[in-house]
Amino acid sequence: MRTLPTLDARVFADSSTSREDEVTDFTALGEAVAAHLEAHGACWIAHWPPPAMVARLREDLERLQTDAALGEAAVGRLGTHLRRSDVRGDRTCWLDDPRCGTVAADYLSALTRIRAAIDRRLFLGLVEFEAHYAAYPSGTGYARHRDRFRDSDARVVSWVSYLNAEWAAADGGALRLYLPNGDNSSGDSSSGDSSSGNVSSSGISSRDGSNHDGSNDDAVETIELAPIGGSMCFLSELEHEVLVAHRERYSIAGWMRRRTRDAF
Ligand code: OGA
Ligand code: MN
Repeated sequence: MRTLPTLDARVFADSSTSREDEVTDFTALGEAVAAHLEAHGACWIAHWPPPAMVARLREDLERLQTDAALGEAAVGRLGTHLRRSDVRGDRTCWLDDPRCGTVAADYLSALTRIRAAIDRRLFLGLVEFEAHYAAYPSGTGYARHRDRFRDSDARVVSWVSYLNAEWAAADGGALRLYLPNGDNSSGDSSSGDSSSGNVSSSGISSRDGSNHDGSNDDAVETIELAPIGGSMCFLSELEHEVLVAHRERYSIAGWMRRRTRDAF
């Protein structure tokens, strides 16, 4: 059975600082994530953000929601920018919006350091990180898609952090990731530094893909993650979807981008 490489962010504690939110050595974490991206295209980062930061981010998102600062999310970009609640049901606010609290800037600064470490290792030309809060009302999800727009390949690496305080399997809302079959990982973690895929404890499970809609799904396996307890990082070219949630679902979705001629 295919398992997803997992890192435990607590391994990257930097003992030279003391605040819980600041204990991560983002360079070391980013380098470990880069190794997994290179080998597997995806990586689950357990326990990051740390619980205290997750709570602050969730409070910030709830405040923005109360202040009606969340907007209906769109599909596509520029001329193809459409509001399609049948495709995605989340309401969003960009983390660089002045209405966000200071914790949003803390999050962006952490991801900027992780991005730099990934880029130093993989030479992807990642020059920036953008992210938005997302609240999915009960009864909504996000249909199968890629984060790379058809007309722009600026988004290279996707990073999603989960802000839910509790979540049960019956609540739905899993992130389903479609992984191409036959990478060289053979389903086991060979890189030694991983906390080696204790599948159930990290909320990860996998099943074989099926050829249900005529697409080439027999070349694909899927992994499903409950939206709690960490962050997911994957190549933006990979297809994924958010299964319908049966309670309100909070997350941050972000993208490490490279500059392209059509970027702006
Ligand atoms: C997205 C997305 C996944 C998630 O916002 O593009 O795929 O688990 N989010 O929230
Ligand atoms: Mn997506």
